Amino acid sequence: MTAICLASCSLVALAQDATVSIQADKGTQKIPKEIYGQFAEHLGSCIYGGLWVGENSPIPNTRGYRNDVLHALQALKVPVLRWPGGCFADEYHWVDGIGPREKRPSMKNNNWGGTIEDNSFGTHEFLDLCELLGCEPYISGNVGSGTVEELARWVEYMTSEEGTPMAKLRKENGRAKPWHVKYLGVGNESWGCGGNMRPEYYSDLYRRYSVYCRNYDGNQLYKIASGASDYDYDWTKVLMENIGHRMDGVSLHYYTVSGWDGSKGSATIFDNDQYYWTLGKCLEIEDVIKRHIAIMDAKDPQKRIGLLVDEWGTWWDEEPGTIKGHLYQQNALRDAFVAALSLNVFHKYTDRIRMANIAQVVNVLQSMILTDTKGTGHMVLTPTYHVFEMYQPFQEATYLPLDLKCDNMNVRHDMNKEMNENNKDGFRTLPLISASAAKTTDGSIVISLSNVSLDKNMDISVNLNGMKAKSVDGRILTSKNVADFNDFDHPTRVSPVEFKGAKLKKDQLTVKLPAKSIVVLQVK
Ligand code: AHR
Repeated sequence: MTAICLASCSLVALAQDATVSIQADKGTQKIPKEIYGQFAEHLGSCIYGGLWVGENSPIPNTRGYRNDVLHALQALKVPVLRWPGGCFADEYHWVDGIGPREKRPSMKNNNWGGTIEDNSFGTHEFLDLCELLGCEPYISGNVGSGTVEELARWVEYMTSEEGTPMAKLRKENGRAKPWHVKYLGVGNESWGCGGNMRPEYYSDLYRRYSVYCRNYDGNQLYKIASGASDYDYDWTKVLMENIGHRMDGVSLHYYTVSGWDGSKGSATIFDNDQYYWTLGKCLEIEDVIKRHIAIMDAKDPQKRIGLLVDEWGTWWDEEPGTIKGHLYQQNALRDAFVAALSLNVFHKYTDRIRMANIAQVVNVLQSMILTDTKGTGHMVLTPTYHVFEMYQPFQEATYLPLDLKCDNMNVRHDMNKEMNENNKDGFRTLPLISASAAKTTDGSIVISLSNVSLDKNMDISVNLNGMKAKSVDGRILTSKNVADFNDFDHPTRVSPVEFKGAKLKKDQLTVKLPAKSIVVLQVK
């Protein structure tokens, strides 16, 4: 049933039920844990004050990494961390970030507020952090303003065993063993901040750079070409034609943003129309993904080349009173919906999508964690953190196809400042329920259900075809208002609690899903 309804009208009079039919014995495809990847850029207080405070800080730390943030990220089981940018990566010279910290040269962070970067967090600090987190590093290489030799030597420095000039230098800097580095990005947003290139020119550069980024001593690189933003299908097409199987993966960036010029809206003050618009824009990623995949399928039907959504998430105006260009934004229950709905979409396309990295891990854009940048040493977990934590059982589980029947509403489109072929009609359809299911390695089934309606509780019947269920447990993330968020005075205002609204009766699962809630169930 479709309701033509702007955010201000209620759906109470419409049909009550939604149905989710899960094919519990039909899964074939694993959801790679890398879908739950993170991104850390030298931007604002993501690195300095977020992840890193230095060994001499009064904030409790382990060799310079803040303990509170480290422990929260360890609990999140971060599978992969992308660094050092973003736009920063194409101005970053890795040699400035090695050796004694007091001797490292400074630089101006031209992309992000002109802050002076002292390079105290460099290659060793990043790769050691990945070891502490137990995650794969994803190095984003400088193509825009660097050289082939510079990137080739960085790979040698990080991954070659004894004997090479770069291995010797690494040893002099305190690390004898190479690190394990799998993911290498060859440039970032090369169509924009990464060099303003045309796809044909970038393709040639990629081919050249990738030759000299060698696999040393058993370390096998997975090379990622700098891909398109949003609706730029031509970029993907040209790269597929000109680079093809020379790349292991190609990236895609998609932000839930109203446009790139002017105000992007407040993270915490918004009306119902803006809320529903946000979720519509977020879900538009599915169509964008399908179209990039169709282009890739035409050249690579075996799906050898991965699509990596290595930047995604919400982008709002910076919080009042914070530094311009530092992209520090709050994170409300609305952001948690963007996380949940996006992850549900990624799960569906993991035959092509091999990784996704939400932007960014601490204090920047749709972050997991906010730290008090004034140095009190406080930290809060955002509603988005809680979604990632609740969704953990999906990592490496087998995706289960499902059929979802629910009410839709038509939401306004015209808040998109940049019109494109996806939004020219002024409205888009928003299903009020989003769901995903997967079978975990212990044979249980994990189900995520989101009710995005602001005012309607939903009775949902879930059919588990091919499974004899015995028990169901769950947790729910919700709050009084969808604009609610966590801050240093109210750090647990939006936090998951036990969910008691799921009942099993003779294999039939029924769920009472409150308005504006995200539930994750574990069925055994
Ligand atoms: O995540 C912030 C910025 O967004 C990144 O540096 C850039 O790649 C993108 O435009």
